[in-house]
Amino acid sequence: MKSSELSGFYKLTPEKRLAVIRDLAKLTDEEVTLLETMKGLSIDQANRMAENVIGCMPLPLGLAVNFIVNGRDYVVPMATEEPSVIAAASNAAKMARVTGGFRASSMGSVMIGQIQMVNLPDMEKAKSSIIASKDKLLKIANEMDPILTSMGGGAKDLRLKPLRTVRGPMLVVELLVDCKDAMGANVVNTMCEVLAPVLEDMVQGSARLRILSNLATERLARSEVIMRKDELGEAVIEGMLDAYALALADPHRAVTHNKGIMNGITAVLTATGNDTRAVEAGAHSYAALGGRYRPLTTWEKTADGNLIGRIELPLAVGVIGGATHHPIAKISLKILGVKSASEFSCILVSVGLAQNFAALKALVSEGIQRGHMKLHARNIAMTAGATGEMIDAVAERLISEKKIRLDRARELLEALTKT
Ligand code: MEV
Repeated sequence: MKSSELSGFYKLTPEKRLAVIRDLAKLTDEEVTLLETMKGLSIDQANRMAENVIGCMPLPLGLAVNFIVNGRDYVVPMATEEPSVIAAASNAAKMARVTGGFRASSMGSVMIGQIQMVNLPDMEKAKSSIIASKDKLLKIANEMDPILTSMGGGAKDLRLKPLRTVRGPMLVVELLVDCKDAMGANVVNTMCEVLAPVLEDMVQGSARLRILSNLATERLARSEVIMRKDELGEAVIEGMLDAYALALADPHRAVTHNKGIMNGITAVLTATGNDTRAVEAGAHSYAALGGRYRPLTTWEKTADGNLIGRIELPLAVGVIGGATHHPIAKISLKILGVKSASEFSCILVSVGLAQNFAALKALVSEGIQRGHMKLHARNIAMTAGATGEMIDAVAERLISEKKIRLDRARELLEALTKT
């Protein structure tokens, strides 16, 4: 990717945008055809992915532009039905370019699998037997995926979580599996299932659940951005800090704050065939981990008065496996140009931070309805027949007159074309 700063990209027609990204991401003719014909998934492919299939549910796929993450330019595919999300991410990323973009990191790709052991005759003896057999248990787990193990991934550790529950004491055996570039649900669940009977024999108890945890605390990703006060203005910075303070103080606001973050992250996950529910579950449970639901970002002023934002959340995502083989997901990953799940996490977490920045900025200034209105007005202008520069000219007049109607758009177009 040369530069992701594609100024005026939003003004192009979908065909022209596709031509731009075709060159930038070196898309093949087949890939371009898949996108432009809106036939991303055949009925046979769909029928192999889910049950009782009758068709597909297409969503708009757009590109967030301007992103720099860790010094690299990225154009970010986002699939969403919500207006303003892609524009907001692109605008925030543009402002972030001035200070070098987003600085992000990821802890890696370790998932936690849980095996629930109940009816243990002797908890202490069970714990010491499992710990004494740790190497043997990890070896059995790793035999389930020799390819992952040969690539340096696989089951790395075991830890024990004794719990008092309403049904009496239980022991949760947690298996830590490095899933490398995959989300890893299949491999973790398979490993947990194979270990369960071995553990039952070892501790004379019964294994119940054998499943990964979506609270992927070993897979945290972080990002940070500085937005300059001379671009934002003092009043907007103060307003944004007040908005952040409210999210910190009130879970009813914090959840909406986090929903805005997930607008961006979920759209990228959808575009790339990742499990949106897994990441959503992880994000919201992480937000509540301290016993009180809190915002996933922090905002404060730097010593020189700029605004600095930080975000941290678990991201169980992959660039291989799962539904990443979906034909459109493959194209999205190609456009993104990521090489690993860690690199992908750095982009996702930065998109979340950009989205939160854009939402707070809009909320403390013009409100979020203006962005929605703009999209609506542009659509009406295009329906009225406006093309090129005329689209924005008509849309702006419709908004300023507060009459976003087709008949008025037609009148304006006629008048503006004459002048
Ligand atoms: C709307 O989808 C998202 C926002 O509500 C987020 C926020 O309030 O921070 C605008």
